[in-house]
Parts: sequence; C-alpha cells; structure tokens
Amino acid sequence: MSPLSLLILSILTGSALGQYYDYGSYLDPAHLLGPPGPNCVEECDCPMNFPSAMYCDGRGLKSIPSIAPGIKYLYLQNNQIEEIKAGAFDNVTDLRWLILDNNRIASSKVEKGAFDKLASLERLLFSYNELTEPVGPLAKSLIELKMIGNKISKIPAEMMLGLENLTSFHLQENELTTEGIIGAFEGLKSLHYLDISQNKLGKLPAAMPKSVQMLYADNNNIDSLLKDYLEKLPQLQYLRIAHNALTDSGIPAGVFNVSSLIELDLSFNKLESIPEVNENLENLYLQVNDISKFDLGSFCKVIGPVNYSKLRHLRLDGNHLTRSSVPFDVSNCLRQAAELTVESTD
Ligand SMILES: *[C@@H]1O[C@H](CO)[C@@H](O)[C@H](O)[C@H]1NC(C)=O
Ligand SMILES: *[C@@H]1O[C@H](CO)[C@@H](O)[C@H](O)[C@H]1NC(C)=O
Ligand SMILES: *[C@@H]1O[C@H](CO)[C@@H](O)[C@H](O)[C@H]1NC(C)=O
Ligand SMILES: *[C@@H]1O[C@H](CO)[C@@H](O)[C@H](O)[C@H]1NC(C)=O
Repeated sequence: MSPLSLLILSILTGSALGQYYDYGSYLDPAHLLGPPGPNCVEECDCPMNFPSAMYCDGRGLKSIPSIAPGIKYLYLQNNQIEEIKAGAFDNVTDLRWLILDNNRIASSKVEKGAFDKLASLERLLFSYNELTEPVGPLAKSLIELKMIGNKISKIPAEMMLGLENLTSFHLQENELTTEGIIGAFEGLKSLHYLDISQNKLGKLPAAMPKSVQMLYADNNNIDSLLKDYLEKLPQLQYLRIAHNALTDSGIPAGVFNVSSLIELDLSFNKLESIPEVNENLENLYLQVNDISKFDLGSFCKVIGPVNYSKLRHLRLDGNHLTRSSVPFDVSNCLRQAAELTVESTD
C-alpha cells in the first residue's frame, strides 16, 4: 500500500479509532489524534476525539494526578505511584476502567474510601503492585479484576460480597493460602474465569460458584480433590492443576467423570496411574508424573459405534511408559486422537 492510500485509510478510520483504544493495542493517541483535550493535566494525554480517556502511563508519576470530571478510562500503569488518597477519584465517580499495573502501591497506602464512589467501575487492573489484600469494597458493576503479582495472602469473603457481574478474576503470583480464601468466590454469580496459579494453596477453593468455566490452579501445593468437587461445577470446561502435589490417593474414583470438561491438565504431579476421565474430554495432559501403566479403561468404559473417547491430545511423556505400553487396540477407543505422546524422557 502506498503512503498516500495509508494516509487516506487512516483518515477514513480515524473517527472510529478512538473507540478501539484499549490497554492491549496501545498507540500514542497524542500523536495520532492531534492536540490534547482541554481538561488534561500537563503530565498526561487526553485525546481530543476520545475525551473520556486520560493516558498517564509511563510518565514517572509518584502520585495520582488531578483528574478532570468526565474521564471514564484512566491509564496509570508503569509509574512509581505509592499511594492512593481517599479523594483521588472524587471528580470521576463515573470511571469505567482504572489501570494501575506496575506501580508500587501497598495496601496500607490505599486510604479508606478511595474506591467507594466509583459506582460504575467495570475493569480494575492492579497487577504488579505491593498489595497484601484486595482493595475495596468495589462497585457491584465490576466485570474484570486483575491483581496478578502482588503479595495477597487472603481475600476476606465480605470484600467480594455482591460482585454479581464479576466475570474474570486474575490472582496468579500471590501468596494465597487455603484458609485465606474461604468463601471468597462463593457469591460471584457470574464468575467464568478464575486464575489462582502460583500461590500457596493446598486445596482447590471450596464453595465455588456454579458459573465457573475455567479454573487455573497450576503451581500450588494441591495434594487432593474432594469427590464431588467437579459435580458441583456443571459448566467447568478447562481445569489446570499442573505442577502440584497430586497423588493417586488424592484423586477419588470418578472425580473427573463429568461431561462438561474439555481440557484437564495434571502434568508435573505424582500420579502413578491415569485417572478415569469422561468420554467428552478432548485434551489431557499427564506428562511428568509417575505413570507406568496405560489402561484404556481410563478413557473408555464401553467401546461401540457411539461409545468412544473424544480425546484429541494426550500427553504422557516424562512417565515410565514406552510405545510398547500402548495397547494394540488403542485406536478403537481413542478414535480422534491427533496427538499421543508416550516417550519417556528419563
Ligand atoms: C477535580 O477537577 C478540578 C477541575 O478540573 C481540578 O482542579 C481538581 O484538581 C480535581 N480534583 C481531583 C482530586 O482530581
Ligand atoms: C450487571 O450487568 C447487567 C447486564 O449488563 C446490568 O444490567 C446490571 O446493571 C449490572 N449490575 C450492576 C450491579 O452493575
Ligand atoms: C462415569 O459417568 C458415566 C456417565 O456419565 C457413568 O455411566 C459411569 O458409571 C461413571 N463412572 C464412574 C466411575 O462414576
Ligand atoms: C454410549 O454413548 C451414548 C451416546 O453418547 C451415551 O448416551 C451412553 O451413556 C454411552 N454408554 C456408556 C456406557 O458410556
């Protein structure tokens, strides 16, 4: 494309661009969209044709700047902000997105009430700070909450009360313990996605909402599951418990025999046998365990015209298996397998 047609294209799409700014596809709006809007503090950019956004990311800020009324999308990531004063957001009670990733904010430096007036907040990104507990209470309008890479050890259940629209909750790389999250997620009626990887959990969280579809708990110390854990999560499709301490005795018979599950990752645990899974499972990751036996009964109870395993990817490498461990009639049961890895790496 010639420079001229590029220019014409950017003029044609220019008016639409503003609506598509998000944190992931960030372009410097000040350069692209002309002079800054009238209400902006000097350190930040407020694009003229996206007047509800204020970009203050990566400006070396030590505190939250003054924010003019009307701002709905506030980008404060990659600064050295250490504290949030109670009145910091008094002008912007209508704020929708607040991005605070990569700052130095500790829980003790968030004044009480700082978030109280943000009644329309939908997205709060607070990763890579120094929080030891979640900020809040937060507005019931919240949809996405990310607090990755902090030092959070507990989530008081009352702090999560009424967050009925929270869909996606990212808590990986914290210091959560089993006791510290009792009841924390129970009332989150819309929760689809929960990531609690890289914490200090000994068990999967008890009392989860039925809405959960993706539960990621890699890199904890989980050693066992409750027998009816998955039965209580009828929408669960993706379960990851890789890099934990699961043994055969910690896995009750039939616990994974639920038809909703599409993907199960149990790699890097201490299993000695292949757990029984439902016919509908498509991806099963069991690499680097202690497995020495390949039993088709784990996948197919019955084999027939309509009864076979839907597994597409099965990884068993890094166990005590070789090609000769695979039963000769494997293809009657695993009819759809596109990947079957058994070679031992030890
Ligand atoms: C609120 O807005 C006014 C007018 O734009 C500004 O002078 C003041 O500093 C703002 N306050 C805060 C806390 O942002
Ligand atoms: C939750 O989301 C629904 C649908 O988008 C919306 O109508 C409702 O007002 C939201 N609830 C809160 C408390 O914001
Ligand atoms: C697994 O589930 C199927 C039907 O969903 C059932 O027929 C079978 O008995 C179950 N197996 C176990 C061990 O619970
Ligand atoms: C065989 O497959 C059918 C259809 O998917 C299913 O309804 C039935 O429960 C299966 N039988 C067993 C014993 O799993």
